[in-house]
Amino acid sequence: MRKILLGLMLGILSTTGYAAAPSGNLMDAQVDVSDQGSLQRGAKLFANNCMGCHSAKYVRWNALPEPLGVSMEMVEDNLIYGAYQAGDTINAAMRSEDGAEWFGAAPPDLSLTARARGADWVYTYLNSFYRDPDASIGWNNKLLANSSMPHVLWRLQGVPEAEYEDTANGVQVAGIRVPDAQQGMLSTAEYHQATRDITNYMAFMAEPVRAKRQEIGVWVIGFLVIFTGLAYLMKREYWRDIH
Ligand code: HEC
Repeated sequence: MRKILLGLMLGILSTTGYAAAPSGNLMDAQVDVSDQGSLQRGAKLFANNCMGCHSAKYVRWNALPEPLGVSMEMVEDNLIYGAYQAGDTINAAMRSEDGAEWFGAAPPDLSLTARARGADWVYTYLNSFYRDPDASIGWNNKLLANSSMPHVLWRLQGVPEAEYEDTANGVQVAGIRVPDAQQGMLSTAEYHQATRDITNYMAFMAEPVRAKRQEIGVWVIGFLVIFTGLAYLMKREYWRDIH
């Protein structure tokens, strides 16, 4: 009986502890793929700001309505630009050859990035852009140094600048701050929320069935617990006469 209980507890732990532990200096994205409001805002921000360059080619448009809690018409009206056919996947407006030429690196497909890099990494990346004092670099990124992606959300966040510190390895970026005179449309808290919504949407895209799987998992575990209890009672009942 003890072994069964232990097994059950391990089972429960492994279904709830699905998110990879944050590592290093990453910010905590606190993703919650069952938060439909966040997914809807994230989908909209993603369509408006990211799909010019990035595709999400493993995700089909018609897979979005149910998990986002919206109708297919809303997806068509708000997220899809240009021609679309039922079953189409999420494509970038730009050809990746052009991206490689214009930015020095082709903007990668983002379907699985939140799983490959981790959601906290994506969230931190979107909060790590700064204007490099070296004008030939332009936008830089504290997490991915010399990233060729421009800070596409600067209108929202403002124009962040880096604070430097002397370390044993030379001068390094210690932190990032948006000076008062360079604030964007959103407050710091609102920008965090916006980038969290985008990250949440990317986490959902990387594993669209996760919310459903967790929901089913709870029922399965519940069933197992009740079933184990019943089986135990039955065993006692059967063995009572034999002892
Ligand atoms: C103007 C084109 C452009 C736009 C718009 C754009 N990106 Fe990028 N993005 C790039 C390029 C180019 C890279 C490759 C950077 C590199 O490797 O140096 C990149 C890389 C990334 C990466 C890192 C992927 C990895 O695994 O290395 C993430 C995450 C990302 N973009 C997210 C976003 C999100 C989210 C948006 C919308 C808010 C967005 N991008 C909008 C061009 C763009």
